[in-house]
Amino acid sequence: MSHGPSSSAASSAQGAEARPRRLVIGLTGGIGSGKSTVADLFAARGAAVVDTDAIAHELTGPNGAAIAAIRAEFGDAVIGADGALDRDAMRERAFEDPAARRLLEAILHPMIRAESRRRLETAEGPYALLVVPLLVESGDRAGGVDRILVVDCPVEVQVARVMRRSGLTRDRVATILAAQASRAQRLAAADDVIDNGGSPDALDAQVEALHRRYVRID
Ligand SMILES: Nc1ncnc2c1ncn2[C@@H]1O[C@H](COP(=O)(O)OP(=O)(O)OP(=O)(O)O)[C@@H](O)[C@H]1O
Ligand SMILES: [Mg+2]
Repeated sequence: MSHGPSSSAASSAQGAEARPRRLVIGLTGGIGSGKSTVADLFAARGAAVVDTDAIAHELTGPNGAAIAAIRAEFGDAVIGADGALDRDAMRERAFEDPAARRLLEAILHPMIRAESRRRLETAEGPYALLVVPLLVESGDRAGGVDRILVVDCPVEVQVARVMRRSGLTRDRVATILAAQASRAQRLAAADDVIDNGGSPDALDAQVEALHRRYVRID
């Protein structure tokens, strides 16, 4: 992996403030649109990729940093024997009580934001890609992304991919989609768009073209 111009030992020795501010691209898209696939293609080109979903999983995994606060708020019923958040139990809880979802988010979002910022400061690369599935829904620019890159595909293609990958029924997928921003809302928020309505092979040239632009933008 190549090192960006701001990655010298000297600059890190002076602390995070010494690193020139780097372009941060917010990568988003609906469930199953291809965010992870696209993020991998950018990572292969040396971009610093920080995945907020992965951070959320770590925070809520066995003995994750958010577990104590979640246990204090919701009790042992939502914590599994392995010390991780019991997602199914939590989903049930949030389904019965919408306020529970907001409480969970109030615990997790500041922690995700802080950890994202930490990783953005330390990850090497000429620019950074912050993967935020619900970036458009959150209504803010997720703690300061400079551009929003949307992975787009027709809703029918998205539904088919999610069903194939997860085995969820069409109805369940439709419920998840209904809770997310619409394709049009996402596109309206986009600075850049990757069309993932075709074959995976079609992604490479699009990622390459954006990568070349992002390494040039300050
Ligand atoms: N162009 C494509 N053609 C066919 N299948 C694809 C294509 N792009 C992605 N997939 C597949 O569709 C599924 C969803 O892709 P991916 O995991 O990259 O999406 P995602 O947006 O990260 O999903 P999630 O919202 O669940 O994180 C995966 O099984 C992936 O292999
Ligand atoms: Mg993903």
